[in-house]
Amino acid sequence: MSAAAVDFSAWLSERAQHVEHVLARVLPGEDAVPARLHQAMRYSVLGGGKRVRAALVFAAAHACGPVLSQPRDADRELAQDLAAAAVELVHAYSLVHDDLPCMDDDVLRRGRPTVHVQFDEATALLAGDALQPLAFDLLAQMPIAPALIVQAIRDLAQAAGSLGMAGGQAIDLESVGKALTQQALQQMHVLKTGALLSASVSLGGLAGAASAQQRKALDAYSAAMGLAFQVIDDVLDVTADSSQLGKTPGKDAAANKPTYVTLMGLAQAQAFAGELHQRALAALSPLGESAVLLAGLADFIVLRDH
Ligand code: IPE
Ligand code: IPE
Ligand code: MG
Ligand code: MG
Ligand code: MG
Repeated sequence: MSAAAVDFSAWLSERAQHVEHVLARVLPGEDAVPARLHQAMRYSVLGGGKRVRAALVFAAAHACGPVLSQPRDADRELAQDLAAAAVELVHAYSLVHDDLPCMDDDVLRRGRPTVHVQFDEATALLAGDALQPLAFDLLAQMPIAPALIVQAIRDLAQAAGSLGMAGGQAIDLESVGKALTQQALQQMHVLKTGALLSASVSLGGLAGAASAQQRKALDAYSAAMGLAFQVIDDVLDVTADSSQLGKTPGKDAAANKPTYVTLMGLAQAQAFAGELHQRALAALSPLGESAVLLAGLADFIVLRDH
């Protein structure tokens, strides 16, 4: 796929549909006992979301080029599908818990009632609990070398754990009503959101058999993109409306959360996201033409309106 040949938005929507099918297949059916839990899991994961994390897996694997040691295209595709589904499962779990009354207390997500509103709090808690191990089960099935599977499992475990997403969420809750320094705010954002985005890129690299030099470029790209993603999320909480966002805007200010907008103001936060965008694009240069999809995702993440 050359830069000229790529219609990025068509690629993204095709990949989003594709991962939706994979997710629909790997999640237990609505009738599987216990049915209410499985209905809540499917409701949490299917039928919405931009699928940016899945797209990062596919785009990062693409950036590594054809893999000579992995001649079977079917294996290469299956590894990517399983990794893409795994990161979307962990993400969906994080959203279900993020929306609970004990966290952000949100009633709208992806244009629909949040899981605890549609079902109940205990079911939402359990749905999140059950989505997470399913993600690791999928990684364990990747048709790649066993050592790479172990690495993939560790990458996702670290990104989701107390030194990653869950830790970032803890800092978020502790920071209500506080004015954080830029350094502290950056740490919170890198952990709560950046870690899972970076893991998505790393898993794509593993599925695409990235070389050490390619991994280095991918890491530099995802460090900038991971932070940019949450800076833009903070901006959209102020600038977008609920029909665009599919969630209730203005919640950060209402809950007194420190964000990039409260730290530096709206215009500066947008400018900072622009800087991170440029940093991410610059990081891709060692990857050449094959990084076209990662570049498209950087544009999408920073320029999106939802
Ligand atoms: C929202 O993530 C939560 C954050 C980590 C900021 P997304 O904006 O990727 O949500 P979906 O998956 O598209 O709904
Ligand atoms: C959530 O950050 C990050 C997660 C780990 C889910 P936010 O609380 O800002 O996400 P939204 O705005 O509710 O999607
Ligand atoms: Mg939150
Ligand atoms: Mg929230
Ligand atoms: Mg937010």
